[in-house]
Amino acid sequence: MNNVEKLVFAGLLYGILMSNGLAQKVYEKQEPPRELTTEQAQVAAKNYQKYCSLCHGENREGYKNDHAPSLRSKTLFESGVPHSILRPISYGRQGTAMAGYLDEVGGPMSLDEVWDLTYWLFWQSGAERIKLSENPVLGDIARGAIVYQENCTACHGVNGEGVNAPALANQSALAHNKDEFIRYTIEKGREGTPMLGYAGTLSADDIDNVTAYLRSKAKDSNVESTVLTSLPTPDQYVINPENDDPEFELADNMYVSSVDLYEAIKANKRMILLDTRVPSVWQRAHIKGAVPFPYYTDLADKVKDLPKDVQIVGYCSCPRAATEYIVKQLRELGYDKTAVLYEGIFGWMNLGYPVTSAQGELE
Ligand code: HEC
Ligand code: HEC
Repeated sequence: MNNVEKLVFAGLLYGILMSNGLAQKVYEKQEPPRELTTEQAQVAAKNYQKYCSLCHGENREGYKNDHAPSLRSKTLFESGVPHSILRPISYGRQGTAMAGYLDEVGGPMSLDEVWDLTYWLFWQSGAERIKLSENPVLGDIARGAIVYQENCTACHGVNGEGVNAPALANQSALAHNKDEFIRYTIEKGREGTPMLGYAGTLSADDIDNVTAYLRSKAKDSNVESTVLTSLPTPDQYVINPENDDPEFELADNMYVSSVDLYEAIKANKRMILLDTRVPSVWQRAHIKGAVPFPYYTDLADKVKDLPKDVQIVGYCSCPRAATEYIVKQLRELGYDKTAVLYEGIFGWMNLGYPVTSAQGELE
């Protein structure tokens, strides 16, 4: 074949693939994470055997107990590092056998140890990290539900509750996993496990549809997920504007506990909730009514949107650092009724308090 013939041939092949809708996405590679020192790796290997091998197996093969997934498949570590690995280890998956191991939620490991274990698992897997978009995967949810019922229930359960495979409708999993991570798993599968890739079986559109269907399950059972095409505007910042503010007793003059915040929300108290994370994660899961107010916001400009007399509570996932940074600046500007959620949003979810999500592209 000469070059022109090659081009025509490639074009035809592409046309055939596209007409079947089976063309696979092309993913960019991403820099690997840091390497561990010998000492960090030894501690991580020891922690793995001590805390994880019981269910995930001595060699990370999975399925030793409680249908724990493999912690060896390349597709998991290609697409999941760090957050889809770090978060379940830290905070667990509510309602499944996977508990939280971070000391903040009563687990045995420090945050440094959890990071090291995440990276240790990555390096053991031999995967190369790929870049996944933060944008939502949009699709036809009703069509996705049909695809799901036809292909996925035997292992994942009629309602995504998990039979002998992960619970796909699990709120902690949906809060931590980005849409592209879910989509990638469906497209490629997880080698060495019963999860086969659907790239050859389902059309690219149906893979989007079933991903959108799974995402639609991310919501508090009492709260419809909000359809948003833009971020909340300043006139929507104050929740329950006609009511009284809560009277919090702050620990260290700074922190409000999840218990107290939830009481105030249930009592319809007047407040402003600031989500100080990057807005893409606000979209995945946030406390209802919270305003995206990323820690890198230019306060000099934004502060005019915040009334001084309303109780402000900020939260992040780190679990407190980003919000403390904002709250300290607000206090310097005379905002005295300000507080930081002590457990952070993942602690909040880990305690079983509700979150909601937003759908649609945000600017
Ligand atoms: C008691 C059994 C058990 C133990 C012990 C356990 N896990 Fe898990 N783990 C599970 C189960 C079950 C799931 C799947 C939960 C679901 O989503 O349905 C899981 C899920 C995970 C996931 C998510 C994987 C994916 O495919 O999304 C990671 C990562 C993980 N565990 C890491 C660990 C690490 C690291 C340890 C040790 C610190 C550990 N687990 C200890 C049972 C366990
Ligand atoms: C034969 C059983 C089986 C079928 C059918 C199946 N899966 Fe899976 N799936 C699994 C198992 C087992 C895992 C965990 C694999 C591992 O060890 O990493 C999994 C993992 C996943 C994950 C990743 C979950 C996580 O927590 O990381 C997603 C998403 C998923 N499957 C979606 C689907 C969808 C959508 C379908 C239908 C189109 C489907 N699966 C069909 C068995 C199955």
